[in-house]
Amino acid sequence: MRDASSQKLLNIDITRLYQKGVGAEGVAPSELNALAPELERVHRELTKKSEGGLDAEFACLNLHTGMSAWLAQIETMAEQIRRFEDVAVIGIGGSSLGAKAVHQTLTAVTPDASAPALHFLENTDPYHLQALMHNRKAEKVAVICISKSGGTIETVVQYLILREWLEKNLGRGGARRQQWIVTDPAQGWLRELAGREDIASLPVPPRVGGRYSVMTAVGLLPLAAAGIDIRELLAGAAANAARCTSGKPDANPALEIAALFYLLDTGRNKRLSIMMPYADPLQLFGDWYRQLWAESLGKRIEGRSGKPTAGTLPVTALGSVDQHSQLQMYLESPLDKFFTFMAVDAWEHDLPIPVAEDSRNSFPYLAGKRLSDIIEAEFQATRQVITEAGHPNMTLHLPTLNAHVLGQLIDLYQRITVYTGLLYGINPLDQPAVEKGKKLAIQLLRGGDTG
Ligand code: PA5
Repeated sequence: MRDASSQKLLNIDITRLYQKGVGAEGVAPSELNALAPELERVHRELTKKSEGGLDAEFACLNLHTGMSAWLAQIETMAEQIRRFEDVAVIGIGGSSLGAKAVHQTLTAVTPDASAPALHFLENTDPYHLQALMHNRKAEKVAVICISKSGGTIETVVQYLILREWLEKNLGRGGARRQQWIVTDPAQGWLRELAGREDIASLPVPPRVGGRYSVMTAVGLLPLAAAGIDIRELLAGAAANAARCTSGKPDANPALEIAALFYLLDTGRNKRLSIMMPYADPLQLFGDWYRQLWAESLGKRIEGRSGKPTAGTLPVTALGSVDQHSQLQMYLESPLDKFFTFMAVDAWEHDLPIPVAEDSRNSFPYLAGKRLSDIIEAEFQATRQVITEAGHPNMTLHLPTLNAHVLGQLIDLYQRITVYTGLLYGINPLDQPAVEKGKKLAIQLLRGGDTG
């Protein structure tokens, strides 16, 4: 782990969420002032419910410290997994999206030729699984099966298929040595199986829910197997947590952003929250955020009329690609949205643009430019037109793309989500409607009447 002080923090620019930055559609300082007692209240609630490390109700906000006791064990298992050429990472939703996002970012920036290829198996799409087994030798494939509940049907069925494939090719003993399970420490089908068949396993802290679990073994085991520095990831989360200890919004970025997003929805009817990173390696980070935000905040508020549902609909876009797809609508549709841009300050790799003699007249402005100059200009221009259209927006400037910065982002978003849930007065940790769907699907498979 590098010296924490040598790592740069996210630069969070929220000026354009306020009226002074975007005009009438932004939040007035007086609105934030009026919310101050509420912000003190939710901060107190968050602080209280975070007491007790991994046993706390908000254990998800303590993972940067709470997981340190597990790191050596995770890294040892990851070393064993690194002997394989391919790793099937089975899991869905919160048991996949975080690791998938971090893996996408960091392997794009620093590809590790000695690391196994990770294959994230979420959907029960036969093609994906078939393709994985088809051209590979079973002895070269490790399987990590991840499910907090230990019984999610999409995960279970893919695991059963891969397990059978391993057993047919390697025998039961051989197959067992190529499997790792991450699940609840005490209950569920997978936990029982790991115990009965002596399969290597790691626990998911019981109080950490799926979408908040990327910094538990759920994300850390596959990421370490891919050669990613999981200690840096946790160090980044710790660095962000240290910025978010105050009950005053101007001294706590997570609290201020939560307050502004809440006010934009409840005060100005902005019901769409669009995240637009300007970097391909961050595209899946948008998917992770989308689940965290939607599943945590999309809840009915009992007894409230007018606005019976909490939360804003998360939408993801990719800059500059979606300027050629979505931007027209963003600019000329109702003012019911706010934006989060993500821009990278320093690119590890960059390419100069060769402008030959014969193209110099057509593109004089490209002389001496690099690819990063183009994406930066595209971002600046889009942000300006979005601002001129009256859409509130904030920019997260990422100093660079590395594990520390991603750890900061993950912790920041988990905190924003929890604060926002508390402001709406809902529980940001549960997902009652999703559970209902899971049960219904099983009923259908049983051939039961669901009507
Ligand atoms: O955030 C959540 O709780 C969900 O998205 C779950 O992660 C998802 O449903 C998978 O559940 P499990 O980890 O129990 O297989």
